[in-house]
Amino acid sequence: MTTFRTTVVVLLGFYTLCQETRASVLGRPLLYGPSTALEKTVEEFQCEVPHYPKEEAILYQLFREGDRSKTLAFHSALSGEMANFPLFITASYEGYLVCVASVQNNTAIQPTVSQRHYLRVVVPVNGAEVVVQSGSVEFYEGKPLSLRCNITKGNHVSYHWLVDGKPLPLSPLHYQAQEQLFFYRMIPQDSGVYTCVATNQLNLTNVYSSRSIAQVIKVKELVSEPDLFFSVLKEGDGTYFALVTCQSLKGTPPITFSLYNRSEFVTTETVDERFARFTIPVVLDLHMGFLQCQAENGDRVVYSQLTAMHIVPVGGAVTMHYDTDVGENFSIVGLRFYCSVERGTLPWYRWFLNGTVLEGRGDFYWVENQPKQSILLLSVGWSSAGTYHCEVTDSFNGTTVISSEERYIDREVLNHLPTAVVAVVFGCFLFLVTLVTACCFIGLLYRKIQYYVEKSTLDLRLGLEMHNIMVSGDDEEFLGRCIMVAEGDNEVDEDEYMEDEGVVRAARIVDSDQGEVDSTDEWLQLQQELKKKSRKELLNSTTI
Ligand SMILES: *[C@@H]1O[C@H](CO)[C@@H](O)[C@H](O)[C@H]1NC(C)=O
Ligand SMILES: *[C@@H]1O[C@H](CO)[C@@H](O)[C@H](O)[C@H]1NC(C)=O
Ligand SMILES: *[C@@H]1O[C@H](CO)[C@@H](O)[C@H](O)[C@H]1NC(C)=O
Ligand SMILES: *[C@@H]1O[C@H](CO)[C@@H](O)[C@H](O)[C@H]1NC(C)=O
Ligand SMILES: *[C@@H]1O[C@H](CO)[C@@H](O)[C@H](O)[C@H]1NC(C)=O
Ligand SMILES: *[C@@H]1O[C@H](CO)[C@@H](O)[C@H](O)[C@H]1NC(C)=O
Ligand SMILES: *[C@@H]1O[C@H](CO)[C@@H](O)[C@H](O)[C@H]1NC(C)=O
Repeated sequence: MTTFRTTVVVLLGFYTLCQETRASVLGRPLLYGPSTALEKTVEEFQCEVPHYPKEEAILYQLFREGDRSKTLAFHSALSGEMANFPLFITASYEGYLVCVASVQNNTAIQPTVSQRHYLRVVVPVNGAEVVVQSGSVEFYEGKPLSLRCNITKGNHVSYHWLVDGKPLPLSPLHYQAQEQLFFYRMIPQDSGVYTCVATNQLNLTNVYSSRSIAQVIKVKELVSEPDLFFSVLKEGDGTYFALVTCQSLKGTPPITFSLYNRSEFVTTETVDERFARFTIPVVLDLHMGFLQCQAENGDRVVYSQLTAMHIVPVGGAVTMHYDTDVGENFSIVGLRFYCSVERGTLPWYRWFLNGTVLEGRGDFYWVENQPKQSILLLSVGWSSAGTYHCEVTDSFNGTTVISSEERYIDREVLNHLPTAVVAVVFGCFLFLVTLVTACCFIGLLYRKIQYYVEKSTLDLRLGLEMHNIMVSGDDEEFLGRCIMVAEGDNEVDEDEYMEDEGVVRAARIVDSDQGEVDSTDEWLQLQQELKKKSRKELLNSTTI
């Protein structure tokens, strides 16, 4: 009983204590304010305490979380009043803010702290500039490049890059990390004017951006393997020179071309082109070894194929042949003449129609010169009719001229069928006609046989009397045939007209199909009967 009483007393005491503390306790303050703010602007923050001791002045202070050494703002107010902090924003205010409320002149009441409030401070971006970290802005392909977009001011910045004013296309050969742009290997197509654009924003409407001035990046192309070709020139004194051209299809000049006679250096030249020409003395019809071009730019050195320096003057026969293009109505509409010479390193071809030269491209023709032959393309029409031939001479010495045979070409000639073809076609036609006629005859004959067979089958089915008329005494074979024909549904097969098989087959049919004739015995009996018939009767029946 006593324990119960004491418990009640203790609980009551606790209750009154609680009531008293509540009156003198400061509630947790609430902090209001913007979550993003622009640097160097004034933003309002509010702080209030929902539960507070009466008649006490309350001090509100604004701190950065974890840093009570510096009060950002403070406000002293009578209990119940809301504190207003106009805050001049600086970049360092970014982070969590807290409001601390304390009762002035009463240290007995503990100060309280609000929940933290995040403030994002935006410093508008400015002063973007492209910095080439790898140093050089002009270099050969294959090298890496690292660009950086430096800004003088700004935070929360995103970067993007423009090449020649257009967004940088995606490529596995480069990647962007924040303000940096890395190229693993630059290719000539990466050359261009690079600009970076740095952007940040306060909210959807207030966006700030800074665009750098353009930075020119030049990626030089490495020289490609050169080709070597040559022509021959004749000097006034009768000596010959080879004009050797070394040419690369790719490569940023200057390029250094060198000529080698096998491994022996001959000459060199550095040019602002993709080709160089060298003149060397040559002797005709003599093998003078192998020449090779070397091309060099950047740190690349490449070589051409070895080319034999053996200039053979034209000689031997000149042949001209043609093939044709067939139009929709099977008439020849186009023609290609080919002209080639047996030998000659530098042949020069000329085409003639009725003795006049055809060059380049005309109304109905087109000359295409290739190293080993010349092609004359013709459209077949009235203007292209005439006599054609081609001539070959050395491109460096026009004194030796070799001519091909002449050939007269016009539409009629081309579309005229050769007699052999006509003969073959006519022969085929005749053969076909004969074949068809023969088939008709055979067909008629076959029809007759079939008619006869059908008739005999019918007879067979009708009764045995008819067989008596048809079959002669010595003709077991004939009977066999007839019955077999009946079984085969009137399909006559010459090969099966053999006595033994015929009889066997007949027997089988009689067994299964013929109800009246049940056994072989009866069948034999029938045969006996048939044999008794006279030859005269047979003759009568076969003439029917
Ligand atoms: C608090 O104390 C200071 C002096 O210590 C006095 O000037 C001030 O008026 C007091 N404030 C209140 C609200 O009592
Ligand atoms: C670019 O910025 C980086 C880092 O801020 C700095 O180290 C560098 O010196 C700057 N370069 C220029 C050219 O301003
Ligand atoms: C963005 O911020 C500015 C300045 O604080 C304000 O005037 C504007 O209304 C804001 N816009 C949006 C969409 O919040
Ligand atoms: C190349 O060198 C050989 C000797 O090494 C020489 O006989 C030949 O004439 C040279 N060829 C040319 C085109 O200079
Ligand atoms: C065949 O067609 C060509 C045009 O394709 C035409 O010029 C020619 O007259 C035609 N020949 C005949 C025989 O119809
Ligand atoms: C070429 O000569 C033939 C007669 O020999 C003539 O029919 C033809 O029209 C001539 N062709 C040209 C293009 O002069
Ligand atoms: C080149 O022409 C001259 C005459 O100018 C001639 O004597 C010589 O035989 C010709 N050479 C060849 C290879 O055709």
